[in-house]
Amino acid sequence: MKIINKVAELKATVGEARKAGRIIGLVPTMGALHAGHQSLVDRARKECDVVVVSVFLNPTQFNNKEDLRTYPRTAEADAALLESRGVDIAFMPTVEEMYPEPDTRVFHLGPVAEVMEGAYRPGHFNGVCQVVSKLFAMVEPDRAYFGEKDFQQIAVIRAMVKQLGFNLEIVPCPCIREDDGLAKSSRNVRLTPVVRKVAPAIYRTLKESLRFAEDHTVQQTHDWVVTTLNAYPEMEVEYFSICHGITLQPVSAWDESDDIVGCITVYCGDVREIDNIRYK
Ligand code: PAF
Repeated sequence: MKIINKVAELKATVGEARKAGRIIGLVPTMGALHAGHQSLVDRARKECDVVVVSVFLNPTQFNNKEDLRTYPRTAEADAALLESRGVDIAFMPTVEEMYPEPDTRVFHLGPVAEVMEGAYRPGHFNGVCQVVSKLFAMVEPDRAYFGEKDFQQIAVIRAMVKQLGFNLEIVPCPCIREDDGLAKSSRNVRLTPVVRKVAPAIYRTLKESLRFAEDHTVQQTHDWVVTTLNAYPEMEVEYFSICHGITLQPVSAWDESDDIVGCITVYCGDVREIDNIRYK
């Protein structure tokens, strides 16, 4: 595995592979790699000739400075994991290398980017689009792999790809969970032991809501999920949206669409956890 820190070297190395007709897969990450990332890397390894993984803690997508400050940083362990999974290139640039000048681009991606995370984390998706569009331009991958835990992020990146005319396939990959159902996340290490014990209630409640939804309305199901989780003193739901799986706009009846997903954000102590479940 080559560890590359410079954009010029990345472009030259990937450029040669492209010229040789090789299929290039990109897995963008912010490091602190876990089994969720590993599943993206393994999928890319199966489907592509050359696998590039970017490890870059992107400051422009953090609307909360404290979240950026406390985000786990494990560069050495990340490199070791990527090497062990047969990755070809680990791209690990500095902030100055990625942003030699401030990125002043503002993306207008419409309603998919304005609801949920878009409403509660102003600027977050703009920062995600800044860094992901830079990575797409540098690597020009044939395929890029993203986890479905960040369900809305995939919809936003698809919208950006369409708007900017990138010629690549976005490959969504299933959320990977702990044995007790908690979605794997780099932020899980920040949960206190007490909060870690109750956090699996998020996915448990979402799963139970599938059964509840069979004989209740969308609004009743929404309220039941929120009330059930808020009954835990350690947790507070920030939002729960039962929405159309493509447009991400809220639905008001189960027969409104064949594609309905519930997306939730819950504060577990001071750690913000997100998760989702498919109703249809
Ligand atoms: O999902 C993430 O880890 C980040 O948002 C991404 C896509 C790597 C961009 O920094």
